[in-house]
Amino acid sequence: MKNTSVTFKEMKKKGEKISMLTAYDYSTAKLVDKAGINGILVGDSLGNVMLGYPDTVSVTMEDMIHHGAAVARGAENSLVVIDMPFMSYQASVYDAVVNAGRLMKEGRAGAVKLEGGEEIIPQVEAIVKASIPVMGHIGLTPQSINALGGYKAQGRDIESARKLIKDARLLEQAGAFSIVLECVPADLATYVSEQLSIPTIGIGGGAGTDGQILVYADMLAMFSDYRPKFVKNFANVGEMMMEGFKAYDAEVKAGTYPAEEHTYAIDPEVLEAAKINN
Ligand code: KIV
Repeated sequence: MKNTSVTFKEMKKKGEKISMLTAYDYSTAKLVDKAGINGILVGDSLGNVMLGYPDTVSVTMEDMIHHGAAVARGAENSLVVIDMPFMSYQASVYDAVVNAGRLMKEGRAGAVKLEGGEEIIPQVEAIVKASIPVMGHIGLTPQSINALGGYKAQGRDIESARKLIKDARLLEQAGAFSIVLECVPADLATYVSEQLSIPTIGIGGGAGTDGQILVYADMLAMFSDYRPKFVKNFANVGEMMMEGFKAYDAEVKAGTYPAEEHTYAIDPEVLEAAKINN
């Protein structure tokens, strides 16, 4: 069954947990979709994981549309959410609506995700008014890395915990259908989840959120630049890839690959005839 923003809200009402993973390409999206994952986020983490940037700041609308459209082609049942990249919505409400529209029209998203709370409420309201489902994202918001001063857990003092609770309520009131809570103390994430009627999707927020999301390359141990505390390796695909690459290298160099069964045959008479006058 096709997952939509409405499905997500119904799942919370029924007390069903929501699963999400990131993906950035067609083949991975197909696998994630077939595994029964409810939602695929084309996260701007593609800047780190796919493009090798140190952060998400340089990711562009064109990057998100290019990868988003590839994922959308591979996702039959998962809800595809595409991240609005840094500076595609912060400067004005107009930018926010136009760029959210591009992610829907050109990227074929089912919803868009924006980072931030109180400061982006006018943008969220305007995008929702344009009939585009919005997922919020609060707690650790990587696009603000230069203002936050590092990738660290958020909401650990009274002031920032209060802000997180307030931001979550404001996003719900603005019409967001769901909110990502990133790197937030588990008890605080549970409290926020209990306060809202829309589902929370946790990443580093403990087990009390309504759903979970991970970067697929982290949970398959394919990305080793850094490893956040909340990541669990569900399979060691990175090691399997390395073994495969090394085995290929060894066989190419030993001349054992390709073997007979990997080659195309030609009638010897055809070959002989082709050699004449050449
Ligand atoms: O970009 C991303 O992958 C994200 C997740 C970490 C939630 O925003």
